[in-house]
Amino acid sequence: MTQTRTVHPADGVRGEIIVPGDKSISHRSIMLGSLAEGTTTVRGFLHGEDNHATLKAFRAMGVSIEELADGMLRIEGKGLDGLAEPDDVIDCGNSGTTIRLMTGLLAGQPFFSVLTGDRYLRKRPMKRVVGPLASMGARIWGRRGGDLAPLAIQGGGLKATAYESPIASAQVKSALLLAGLYAEGVTTVREPHLSRDHSERMLTYFGADVRPFPGGVSVTGRPRLTGREVQVPGDISSAAFFMVAALITPGSELLIRNVGVNPTRSGIIDILRAMGGTLELLNEREVSGEPVADVLVRSSALRGIEVGGDVVPRAIDEFPVISVAATFAEGITVVRDAHELRVKETDRIAAMTSELSRLGGKVEAREDGMVIEGVERLAGGNVSSHGDHRIAMSMAVASLRAAAPVTIDDTECTATSFPSFWELLEQVRG
Ligand code: S3P
Repeated sequence: MTQTRTVHPADGVRGEIIVPGDKSISHRSIMLGSLAEGTTTVRGFLHGEDNHATLKAFRAMGVSIEELADGMLRIEGKGLDGLAEPDDVIDCGNSGTTIRLMTGLLAGQPFFSVLTGDRYLRKRPMKRVVGPLASMGARIWGRRGGDLAPLAIQGGGLKATAYESPIASAQVKSALLLAGLYAEGVTTVREPHLSRDHSERMLTYFGADVRPFPGGVSVTGRPRLTGREVQVPGDISSAAFFMVAALITPGSELLIRNVGVNPTRSGIIDILRAMGGTLELLNEREVSGEPVADVLVRSSALRGIEVGGDVVPRAIDEFPVISVAATFAEGITVVRDAHELRVKETDRIAAMTSELSRLGGKVEAREDGMVIEGVERLAGGNVSSHGDHRIAMSMAVASLRAAAPVTIDDTECTATSFPSFWELLEQVRG
């Protein structure tokens, strides 16, 4: 039996919330904490299923990771060469970040490992990391000529590379940077637009020599990484659901505290402001090498805009909820250059087009995006998450402005990135 949730229309979204820790930064804190020498402590770690997949993987390679009473983690780093061969297959669950970053990292280890995942992850393309890693000398096998998990990796013997990625992907970039830690010399990755730079920031924070330059970044192999205290900011991708909830529901005023506002992630704020949304950043500060702020959002009359180009990777996980904002904006919103949405946890262009349409939304799918015409309200009804956490949460936000309750099927997937989502939604709704 899958879990269903019914969301009722709301009169406003009000109060103050703190969203859970950033998923991308939480993954990287475990990886780098494990490869560092000495102890790393992680505060604000996201205890979601995706991050637990990474945590279990490193425990399986002999790393001691202790969970303290307040949810803080203490990682006893093994140093660059201290991981042990896992004695079983590593299950990455639903997590693309786990499997792709680990493929890079494991390519550098002098042992054999196998990575797999759930039925969604086993359909997602891996050639994007396997190809360039092979050019560094990695030996990786997988279904469909190495494109699909399970992946089997015989690591070791890497040489540095200069890779020009055809897609702006932080997972590809990070896999190569992690492999580059194990190659002599300098590994360089170029990308068409800058994708999230958490790996670069955290590698620098742990002591690696990482040099960003216009169009790319390089890392010097064989660094000495030192354990650090990491404070993980709130996940802007989780905050985004509540930003849109407050904007589209008349009578709202919501303060979201402690949100990571790294410029490579804050495209959602730029897009919502361009649509006419009132979002104020308060108390801007830097924590563990990452910019953080509190975000105050008020309900606003939104208007349709054109979205494309370099803002797309800066908001890549937010397009499901952007399509919800566009549904309640006056006029037409056009999203282009977002072909990557087709290969996320599900095909997010197809999923949002079908589910918003079921409630009377006016959405047309394009190969690389969507065209959305605003409506005053959606109808009530039944929709599906397609097993994708961000589709489930986006449809919950859309339901706040439906004329009648909406029942969403298959909602347990929200535990991958935002286990407390439903409670917080209950807390703020009018
Ligand atoms: C992530 C990178 C993005 C994003 C994903 C997390 C990361 O994927 O969609 O949710 O932590 O590096 P791509 O690199 O495939 O765009």
